[in-house]
Amino acid sequence: MVDTFDAVDIIIAKRDAEILSDNQINWIIDAYTSGEVAEEQMSALLMAIFLRGLNRSELNCWTDAMIASGERLDFSFLPRATVDKHSTGGVGDKITLPLTAVVSSYGVGIPQLSGRGLGHTGGTLDKLESIPGWQAELSLEQMGQQLASTGAVICAAGAGLAPADRKLYALRDVTGTVASIPLISSSIMSKKIAEGTSGLVLDVKCGSGAFMKELSGAKELARTMVEIGEDHGVHTVALITDMDTPLGLSVGNALEVRESLEVLGGGGPKDVIELTLALAREMLDVAADIVEVQGIPGAGILPGSKHAQSRVEELRTADVARSLTDGRAMDSWRATIRAQGGDVDGEMAWAKFTEDVVADHDGFLLSLDAMKVGLAAWRLGAGRARKEDKVQIGAGVVLHAKPGDRVRQGQPLMTLHTDTPDAFSRAQEKLEGAWSIGPQAPQPTGVIIDKVSASTLA
Ligand code: URA
Repeated sequence: MVDTFDAVDIIIAKRDAEILSDNQINWIIDAYTSGEVAEEQMSALLMAIFLRGLNRSELNCWTDAMIASGERLDFSFLPRATVDKHSTGGVGDKITLPLTAVVSSYGVGIPQLSGRGLGHTGGTLDKLESIPGWQAELSLEQMGQQLASTGAVICAAGAGLAPADRKLYALRDVTGTVASIPLISSSIMSKKIAEGTSGLVLDVKCGSGAFMKELSGAKELARTMVEIGEDHGVHTVALITDMDTPLGLSVGNALEVRESLEVLGGGGPKDVIELTLALAREMLDVAADIVEVQGIPGAGILPGSKHAQSRVEELRTADVARSLTDGRAMDSWRATIRAQGGDVDGEMAWAKFTEDVVADHDGFLLSLDAMKVGLAAWRLGAGRARKEDKVQIGAGVVLHAKPGDRVRQGQPLMTLHTDTPDAFSRAQEKLEGAWSIGPQAPQPTGVIIDKVSASTLA
């Protein structure tokens, strides 16, 4: 029999910094999901958690209860290890597109259940929907078939996955409780664990365009998610990466798909290539660790067998950089997009109107604020303010300079793209103070800041 509790007692306990029991947590998540606990009570509990936190055991139980609120997928029948990637969200972050192609080209399964953009960060599904014919909605059966054939699937997460999180996330959004490390980490990890992946690589963004503006917060978020993953048997590694400046030179749906195609064709911006390759290396290493410990049950390959060992060797020594220049990753991309109805050679729309934003004086570009560029792209129509809004395929921002580049007065720093020209002035407002120019070149910085894994947690 399931214990029942008084929601008020649970709120008071957390308000007074007490540790909640497993039974209290299981009950309140279940009762909230079924509508028995009122929104105002859950709001109060979320604020108490925001202020008092959850310890490791409470957080694991909270995450379990969210997973248990819905269905849990299982891909252990596949003849390949599965590893997914999750980014905490950033501006110009199209990395899922080239990354999925690189990693799946080495036979790793990627069950990527993605979302749509809300606010200043874009969503992977919105980007892919720029490709004529591409379908985001797949049944579970179609997902399994595609994972078995092409190795990768990027599709919409059905409503059946962690429904408690869906409800809680909407409530956090309107109660000032989004930016809480236990609440963010349980929200992300409940969905990733329910998705049934065996391994996970997290890209935890840090900087002006990210949830976590400071490195200390990003590290704590990364550590917390790696702990939850490992405690739930999902081999998890996190990279902490820079999000002070937009990634690449394009921000916006079709614009970012075009840039991803440049990367898959062996070109593209340096930072996008650097991050794609770093995450690909981590994903292949995670897949190798999994094969070492578990074998590949779906292919009848036992851990320690000759087959398992040669597969591990293959994954650990894969030349990921080469896959971008020899057409291997591009072939995977085309197969994955075609499998979901996409016309890989189809024309993606361009925005109807463009306007340049120019440098106000000569010098070196010192900084370019990711958040402000993201908000400008959103105002131009690349993002949505409400879930039901439609995004413009061609809208967004194309950057012509990144920090470190020399610029001249009057030179275009960026071009704004939109179908609705009255959006230009609103975007320009958001870009006020978005960059700085100085006489000396700044120190060059890389995208990767740090790495967190089970071995660095101890
Ligand atoms: N993404 C999620 O899925 N949940 C959060 O809480 C924050 C970002």
